[in-house]
Amino acid sequence: MSEVIAIEGGHKLNGTVVVSGAKNATVALIPAIVLADSPVTVYGVPNISDVDALGVLLRELNCEVDKNDDVLVVDPSNLKNIPLVSDAVDKLRASYYFMGALLGKYKRVKIKMPGGCYLGPRPIDLHLKGFEALGAKITYEDDTYLLEAEELIGTQIYLDFASVGATINIMLAAVRAKGKTVIENAAKEPEIIDVVNLLTKMGAKIRGAGTDTITIEGVEHLKGCTHEIIPDRIEAGTFLIMAAAAGERVIIQNIIPQHLESLISKLKEMGVKMENVGDSIIVYGDNKNFNAVDVRTQVYPGFATDLQQPLTALLTQANGQSQVIETIYPERFRHCEQLNKMGANIELDESMCYINGKTPLKGAKVEATDLRCGAALLIAGLIADGITEISNVYHIDRGYANIDQKLITLGAVIRRIKVDD
Ligand code: EPZ
Repeated sequence: MSEVIAIEGGHKLNGTVVVSGAKNATVALIPAIVLADSPVTVYGVPNISDVDALGVLLRELNCEVDKNDDVLVVDPSNLKNIPLVSDAVDKLRASYYFMGALLGKYKRVKIKMPGGCYLGPRPIDLHLKGFEALGAKITYEDDTYLLEAEELIGTQIYLDFASVGATINIMLAAVRAKGKTVIENAAKEPEIIDVVNLLTKMGAKIRGAGTDTITIEGVEHLKGCTHEIIPDRIEAGTFLIMAAAAGERVIIQNIIPQHLESLISKLKEMGVKMENVGDSIIVYGDNKNFNAVDVRTQVYPGFATDLQQPLTALLTQANGQSQVIETIYPERFRHCEQLNKMGANIELDESMCYINGKTPLKGAKVEATDLRCGAALLIAGLIADGITEISNVYHIDRGYANIDQKLITLGAVIRRIKVDD
């Protein structure tokens, strides 16, 4: 059995939606917990399937895991550093954060190559280069990595690309290395700062998070603590786009506006009316006459690659030709074919696409090829004429907590249907 989401388009969205905790911080914070010698409590944990998959891995490591609504308590004090080779590793790419954390704490880790969305090639060479620079010996056979080190020695590491994953993973090992590690050309995403805040509460000594140079002084022990996860800027951005597309007056609550500056300026350029009110943004949907715009994805604080797919759904409603240039994942365009099935007019080119608007969309049977493609199809379904059925809904559930309920509360007509595979 699998699930399909069916949306009846044309219903205006009104009211308030509250953004959940950030998936891309959460999936790094949870593996980071194993570095502690005593229990860690995390608040604001989103109800997404990636969290469940990480919980399975923590239990395989003999951690006590207790999740109650959005509060997660993990006790890693009796951790057993067994090889992580079960299917749960395949569920998400972020399983690889256990590499840095377990290597840092035990100087040894065995783990299967991680899974995750297909967005084109997704190597982990920068992670491995960082671990080797710290002194790890790495072997790879049967799709499984073994990393071992007599000891980890702090060093200077220059990242060829400001990789989010590599920056975090190297930090997770470096916090328990001997001496100082400097990561140059580090990623600056807000989720990295959130992970550093957790590690600092555990007793780590880290400076420069949010800049392109992060300095870590290794420490002997890290202790338990409590932490609240930052709001999910990608979920918030997805709701801003949804509200622009299908909203009349939508309040998106639990936002850090500075995390969304690049999207907000693009939406303003399109002619979307928005107002900042404290930790919320109100989107007024009276103007549906959008200007076409050009988007180029960049590392933070540039335009987030994770938001180019949802925005593409809105750009089908802009007057004229927009273009999206993807500099992070050149193959992140599988949503275009699905949107074209609904009447969009999108042409693909090398690492970019042209969106020719404004095109009326009509309901169709479409497939979520990855998480953010799923988000784009939800947006298109909300404004299409008729019923849109989105299959492979599990992709959407990896990154959007309670998305159906949140949309129904705003007035969408949406339901899940179980279908035979
Ligand atoms: C994180 O992925 C996010 N995932 C992605 O979000 C996000 O799109 C991406 O950062 C960019 O912002 C999580 O945080 C769990 P990268 P990550 O390492 O860390 C290349 C979503 O939709 N690269 O910054 O994997 C890589 O191929 C997901 O929520 C190497 O070449 O991204 C890609 O082209 C999708 N070698 C680029 O860098 C490496 O060792 C960006 O990768 C690592 C990365």
